Amino acid sequence: MSDIETLAATYLETGRIDGLPQGHFIAGKATEPSPNKVLESFDPAAGAVFATFAAGTADDVDRAVTSAKDAFEKTWRDTAPAERGRILQRAAALIREKADMLALVECVDAGKTLQEARGDVGGAARAFEYYAGACDKLQGDSFPLGADYAGFSIHEPVGVTAHIIPWNFPISTAARGIAPALAAGCTVVAKPAEQTPFTALMLAQILAEAGLPEGVCNVVTGTGAEAGAPLTRHPDVDHITFTGSVTTGRAVMKAAADEVTRVILELGGKSPVIVLGDCDRERALDGVMGAIYENAGQICSAGSRLVIERSIHDEFVDALARRAAALTLGHGLRNPDMGPVNSAAQLEKIAGFVERARADGGEIVAGGEVATDPETGKGWFYRPTLIDNAKPADEVVREEIFGPVLTIQVADDADHALALANDSIYGLVAGIYTGDFATAHRLARGIDAGQVFINEYFAGGIEVPFGGNRKSGFGREKGIEGLKSYCKTKSIAARIS
Ligand code: NAI
Ligand code: MG
Repeated sequence: MSDIETLAATYLETGRIDGLPQGHFIAGKATEPSPNKVLESFDPAAGAVFATFAAGTADDVDRAVTSAKDAFEKTWRDTAPAERGRILQRAAALIREKADMLALVECVDAGKTLQEARGDVGGAARAFEYYAGACDKLQGDSFPLGADYAGFSIHEPVGVTAHIIPWNFPISTAARGIAPALAAGCTVVAKPAEQTPFTALMLAQILAEAGLPEGVCNVVTGTGAEAGAPLTRHPDVDHITFTGSVTTGRAVMKAAADEVTRVILELGGKSPVIVLGDCDRERALDGVMGAIYENAGQICSAGSRLVIERSIHDEFVDALARRAAALTLGHGLRNPDMGPVNSAAQLEKIAGFVERARADGGEIVAGGEVATDPETGKGWFYRPTLIDNAKPADEVVREEIFGPVLTIQVADDADHALALANDSIYGLVAGIYTGDFATAHRLARGIDAGQVFINEYFAGGIEVPFGGNRKSGFGREKGIEGLKSYCKTKSIAARIS
């Protein structure tokens, strides 16, 4: 058996993973969790606790921020950019070396399929590679002030950065924030979600192993109220990157306002996928399926509203319903098509949306029910669901469900499709499937979203800036723009004659 098969078999037999990190990671080392400050983490595919972790408090946060501030002032800010790059590059290599263990933990803790978890771990390594190469290319400008002046800008690191991470993409969200922050010369305090605390801790250990000086990357685990909120209020935090719900995003922004702390908010979405009659049918079917059923629909940028041209509606929806019904569910380690949803609360929320839609006359043409792992009869699963002929005012069209539920709206033509697509409080991403180049680009320009995918949903990677408009938030991560988020420009103008 390969390493990963052995790890998976051992976990499925024992329900335990050996060697999980314990305590917070502060000032370069794992701390002892205080005896009465322990939380449980669940394996959603089994609906059972598989490990415990430290419940951080304001005191832990304060120690982590103090360590990050010290490390910023004493070492990292002034570490040569090329040296920062070498450390990040080593971290990327170590992530790849330890990919099996990272993927196993992510799979069990978050409820992903192993394939999805491996993809996320690969994505995390890519983030470190990408920003490793960018450390020594953060060039400023020079300003044409004439012969009597020298004018130029430099990109300084903003300082201590806080990263509040959600449970749906624990390691990849951590990496896409931490890698550019470190590349820019910032130090880090990360607070992973209480549902998925482990891979952020593992990442901090890997960074230390790669040679990151102590205190540069700290992780405090715990709940949003007890560990997250004190971090967002801390006067020595200079920047907050938050990914999560709109409600919590608002609270984070308010907390940041008191200290005038910079924020990036990556919030929810209700992203449309426009499919026009002239599209490549197979490609569109594959794209729409992946857009909503990957990670069981728990993706901020999930394509959760299909907007389909009337001319192909019937045959397309038939094909989708057949595919949705054929998807296998199960424990992520057995590599089914789709894993569980992350928590009992999330399952209840999803089921509630679908039940209300059903009661309201919604046409549920696939799924629409809670399920379990067929091997064990356990876990928090929801069947891949399609709600046809949904109307713009329906709750399931307007609100983020964050589960494997796709609503289908029918459009008369491309312009109607555009109007339906833009009828949302969100503006995170949008997908377009059409064979017509001009239409694709006209729609791409017309859509209010941070990114648009043409003929391949989720196209692109760490190179492509990512972030939302409207209530999906503001600020951009990924790409060079993501690096600039962790910099403050200083302009210097000097009289030289
Ligand atoms: P949440 O937004 O409350 O949690 C995200 C992160 O924020 C977690 O690390 C949490 O501990 C932290 N947090 C919570 N309250 C905080 C506070 N007052 N100050 C600082 N940090 C705080 O989201 P939750 O409750 O896990 O999920 C609720 C809904 O949010 C989901 O059903 C989904 O619709 C949406 N969501 C969207 C995500 C996205 O990627 N945009 C990710 C996770 C959830
Ligand atoms: Mg968990």
